[in-house]
Amino acid sequence: MDKLAIHGGTPVRTKPWVSKYMGSEELGAEERARVLQVLEKKRIFRYLPTGLETSECSALENEYKSFLGTKYALAVNSGTSALICALVACGVGPGDEVIIPAYTWVATAAAVTMVGAVPVLCEIDQSLTLDPEDMVKRITKRTKAVIVVHMRGISAAMEKIVPVAKEHGMKVIEDAAQANGGTYKGRMLGSIGDVGCFSLQQSKVITTGEGGMLVTNSEELWQRAVLYHDGAGYQFRFTERKIPAFPGQNYRLTELQAALSLGQLEKMPAILQQTHRNKETIIKGLQMQPKISLAPVFGTEHDLGLSLIFYVADGQKARSVSEALTAEGVQAFQVYDGVANDQHIYINWEFLLAKRDPWGGHYPWSLTPETKVEYSANTCPRTLALLKRAVQIHLNHLVTDQDIQDIFDALEKVATHLL
Ligand SMILES: Cc1ncc(COP(=O)(O)O)c(C=O)c1O
Repeated sequence: MDKLAIHGGTPVRTKPWVSKYMGSEELGAEERARVLQVLEKKRIFRYLPTGLETSECSALENEYKSFLGTKYALAVNSGTSALICALVACGVGPGDEVIIPAYTWVATAAAVTMVGAVPVLCEIDQSLTLDPEDMVKRITKRTKAVIVVHMRGISAAMEKIVPVAKEHGMKVIEDAAQANGGTYKGRMLGSIGDVGCFSLQQSKVITTGEGGMLVTNSEELWQRAVLYHDGAGYQFRFTERKIPAFPGQNYRLTELQAALSLGQLEKMPAILQQTHRNKETIIKGLQMQPKISLAPVFGTEHDLGLSLIFYVADGQKARSVSEALTAEGVQAFQVYDGVANDQHIYINWEFLLAKRDPWGGHYPWSLTPETKVEYSANTCPRTLALLKRAVQIHLNHLVTDQDIQDIFDALEKVATHLL
């Protein structure tokens, strides 16, 4: 076996491993035409009284409704605002607790505190999503909701989570920011819980640059979200409001943004077919590699194939394997290396560890000083230990058969030397 590239040997490949964002790679003439058409119409604000029904935002909502099979959809300006609207829609507020996984983008935790509720961290399991058994242990009389995150395009175990949540009177909010187009046992992610949230930021499966979508089957929840996303209540000048008025924000999406991503949902199945196919091939190939471990869910229907993550014996090995793979030309990362300050890992959420609000105080934790919600390395030690020994390689729909072969060759070489 050749010397490792990291030790001066010949690398498996010299072509750079390029991380590509999927939706934006597919932007082309169609999107250009849609955006230009909006400019020509000079109708760039969603709620102008004329043309409301045929607005780009409504069209995008209609695409989502039919794609996901939900009754209602609301276009907003980010995944974060979708989460905040979802929490408000569900009546989550001061004095409440919301269970969230310890591995998610920091926005999930921030959204909870921005509505005045306390995030309660829950371990993830090898699937990289919320561990349903640990969730049960974190429920208290204050728990109002759980935000289930379909992390890295992998579906959380909805069949286990939803019944427990219902039994305890908790709302289920799906954070499908990273799993647009995913399914769980044939059901579209985002349509299974009470409310589903998506991000349309550029690193997501499809994109408007910045944007988000909220979906639900409840008219009441939808109306509450609509009111909160638009404090001015423009929407309700045109449709019947069935809920009492309350103040809101401005999380409205512009017509230009909506137009940019219109039609991308149509492109998504082809993108995801390719990522699924690649991931299945990779996982099959890696099953021959006894020195690394995989979660059973990887490479199945419940995995969009957006990245490859595997586990090795410990953090030291994960670091050396990542460095060696990168030197072989297959860019790899140790998921939690204690250095990179990755804002997907709770231990790096500085404001949360300090329970700090934007005004120098401790709101919302100060509202319920008698409850003991703590955040430290001991809060979710299994999550930290798992992510420390996890190695990640970013994938996308443009990964070729040669790229996959390079992953196999690089891993074979690195495993032989280091594992
Ligand atoms: C899991 C998760 N939740 C929420 C968000 C927030 O989305 P946005 O960046 O559109 O506000 C993201 C995006 O990075 C995410 O990955």
